[in-house]
Amino acid sequence: MATILSGKEVAQDIRADIAKEVDRLKEKGVTPALTVVLVGEDPASQSYVTGKMRACEEVGMRSEVIRMPDTISQQELLDTVERLNQNPNVHGILVQLPLPPQIEEKAVIETIDPRKDVDGFHPINIGKLMIGDDTFVSCTPAGIIELIKRTGTSLKGKRVVVVGRSNIVGKPVSLLLLQEHATVTICHSHTQDLTAITKQADVLIVAVGRAGLIGKEHVSPGTVVIDVGVNRNEAGKLVGDVRFDEVLDQASWITPVPGGVGPLTITMLLKNTVKAAKQIENVD
Ligand code: GUN
Repeated sequence: MATILSGKEVAQDIRADIAKEVDRLKEKGVTPALTVVLVGEDPASQSYVTGKMRACEEVGMRSEVIRMPDTISQQELLDTVERLNQNPNVHGILVQLPLPPQIEEKAVIETIDPRKDVDGFHPINIGKLMIGDDTFVSCTPAGIIELIKRTGTSLKGKRVVVVGRSNIVGKPVSLLLLQEHATVTICHSHTQDLTAITKQADVLIVAVGRAGLIGKEHVSPGTVVIDVGVNRNEAGKLVGDVRFDEVLDQASWITPVPGGVGPLTITMLLKNTVKAAKQIENVD
């Protein structure tokens, strides 16, 4: 029977440390500040943004949401980002995704000053991650690594299988795992005999966005299972990509959905904003 790996507890521990760090910076006259740009009324995005604002408040950071209607033009959004780039009172900028169809996400991400890119989505920051330079690591991948470390599992030399190859999770988490000296296999929708590969994993990370994709047939006894999926099932309930009840018997550790990776994602955003504030204000 697996131990449930609660992101809430790990997030609380880390947020307590971040709050202390924010207090210390405030004594030096610097209050880390995050601005989130929210375009449109998507309920999931609104709920994520509320969570981010609340978390900033809890650790004593400044935060602001700029709300824009989903009818805005790409240029209006780029102008807003450009103003935030120039604003010395803003340390971190996050444009909540997805964006309406008339706006090209890539153009927006590339307009954010890489020094304020607390999402870690700018190609410069992705490139730095690729070559192992210090950078803003995107929040969900960074949270996944924190969670695995909390199990006491050393990643060195371990076989880690990542299912999903998105730019936001699958690819960056694979690079981080490589930095931890894991042997990494990335699987995706064209992978043949997925089960044979996932069964070899010491650590299995699933980030596809398909409810219940992974079941007990995919998991060998003793595997650490990290479920990054957030899906709604037919009953409207939030579920992961892993059939939790089935895999519970096989895994050594398993993250629940919700309450697994999610709380860590916001925590890493706080951490990145503190890092941006220190670098921009040139304080330690
Ligand atoms: N939408 C869902 N997750 C994220 C995220 O991590 N960052 C941004 N900017 N938008 C998102």
